[in-house]
Amino acid sequence: MSTTTSPVASSIILTGDRPTGPLHLGHYVGSLCNRVRYQHEYRQFVMLADAQALTDNVDDAGKVHRNVMEVALDYLAVGIDPTVSTIFIQSQVPELAELAFYYLNLVTVARLERNPTVKEEIRQRGFERDIPAGFLAYPASQAADITAFKAALVPVGVDQVPMIEQTNEIVRRVNRLAAREVLVEAHALVPEIGRLPGTDGKAKMSKSLNNTINLGATADEIRAAVKKIYTDPLHLRVQDPGHLDGNVAFTYLDAFDGDRVGLEEMKAHYLRGGLADSVVKARLEACLQELLAPIRQRREQFGRDRGQVLQMLKEGTARARETAARTVDEVKDVLGLRYF
Ligand code: TRP
Repeated sequence: MSTTTSPVASSIILTGDRPTGPLHLGHYVGSLCNRVRYQHEYRQFVMLADAQALTDNVDDAGKVHRNVMEVALDYLAVGIDPTVSTIFIQSQVPELAELAFYYLNLVTVARLERNPTVKEEIRQRGFERDIPAGFLAYPASQAADITAFKAALVPVGVDQVPMIEQTNEIVRRVNRLAAREVLVEAHALVPEIGRLPGTDGKAKMSKSLNNTINLGATADEIRAAVKKIYTDPLHLRVQDPGHLDGNVAFTYLDAFDGDRVGLEEMKAHYLRGGLADSVVKARLEACLQELLAPIRQRREQFGRDRGQVLQMLKEGTARARETAARTVDEVKDVLGLRYF
């Protein structure tokens, strides 16, 4: 998948997800693709953001705990390789919480409230005035996650870009205080294709909207999802010309179909009229079955030995901690917090 920035050699990547449910095609397009692609060129840390997930799941902590394993399996299944990438659990690296606590003094409440990612999520969750303080602190926490590893590259979906911008404000503030480059400014690696819509035609694929296709979906689940996918509501008769705009079947084909020539021919035929939705859906289903079958198989394989996955996470977390601890020491030096 191509991207909007050209990475610098020897860069470090930090990225992660809130483990509140299994990952889906939206995650795949949004960032997993880039993580798999770049892991061999750069040093990559992939974080299971369980502490962040807690801010709006504190009444259902069991869900977050369970999903750490599910998301770890998704990572392994799509091809994030723990021998080259470091996969770790956020809550087990207390240095991240410490750093976030210091960063909270470098941002204003007004700036946190103005952050578009925060604003959008407040709207989605219907928090209104009952915003958990931890939620409002996301940008400081995310800045801690990114800067602890001195990450220059952050593969994320487009909705996370304001987080990276705010991270860089904190980076510049710390560097100004230090009068040297202690921290590194980060670039978002955003997929060109943008955000994947839900199967129902809504702008975003999201578990809470029940419009996802999970990476671990069975063949039957994929078939059922494609069957009821949103196409062109005006395309009532096969002979009518169809529309591509907002037609999710074609949006997904654009994202996943490797046969560009065949796809362009199909689009032309659909626009002319005379092509049934069922033919488009059959092509899409074949394409998704082919994409997801090996992912599902690997997921099952890794899932058979969860003890080994936990061991991998434990080792990754220990490595992540070493790196984060060094950065915390440096930032504490800048802030005058060293005594002995
Ligand atoms: N907020 C991100 C999400 O929900 C997860 C996350 C936490 C993250 N810290 C991060 C992503 C740092 C990138 C970098 O998807």
